[in-house]
Amino acid sequence: MAQIRPVYKVMLGLLISVAAACTDDNAEDLMPQPARQQCDTSAITFSGSVVPILATNCYGCHTASIAEGGVVLDEYEGVKEEADHGHLIGVITHTPGFPPMPQGAPKLTDCDIEKIRKWLEAGAPDN
Ligand code: HEC
Repeated sequence: MAQIRPVYKVMLGLLISVAAACTDDNAEDLMPQPARQQCDTSAITFSGSVVPILATNCYGCHTASIAEGGVVLDEYEGVKEEADHGHLIGVITHTPGFPPMPQGAPKLTDCDIEKIRKWLEAGAPDN
């Protein structure tokens, strides 16, 4: 087998470390959401699962004091109202006919949507 010249070894090493760095970056950029099987929807509660998602993604426009579109999501009653008439799931899944939410921001992760869906399926309890 031909001997690899030292200069190529160095270049190869650089290439590999650059590629590795890129792979790391991409892993974060392209997969911000955990794979489906890693999404834990076993113990969904309003306060523990749904509120943190809404706080991060929706409170910027939907609190009692801001209430864009008249929608208040920082209290259970407001969320329950949107849950009951189907708008909550409609907006976060970007279903045609609903304004896609969060407005002007990327869609929620599949895992977050799945958690909210589970909570809705359980009857949207205040727990
Ligand atoms: C940047 C501001 C902004 C953010 C962030 C935002 N919304 Fe909205 N939302 C609005 C505005 C403005 C309206 C009313 C305008 C409209 O209906 O298009 C609205 C309307 C709604 C409605 C009523 C839709 C309907 O069919 O009448 C729901 C439900 C809703 N938002 C839920 C959410 C949820 C859930 C999140 C977080 C995942 C969220 N919003 C994040 C601005 C925002």
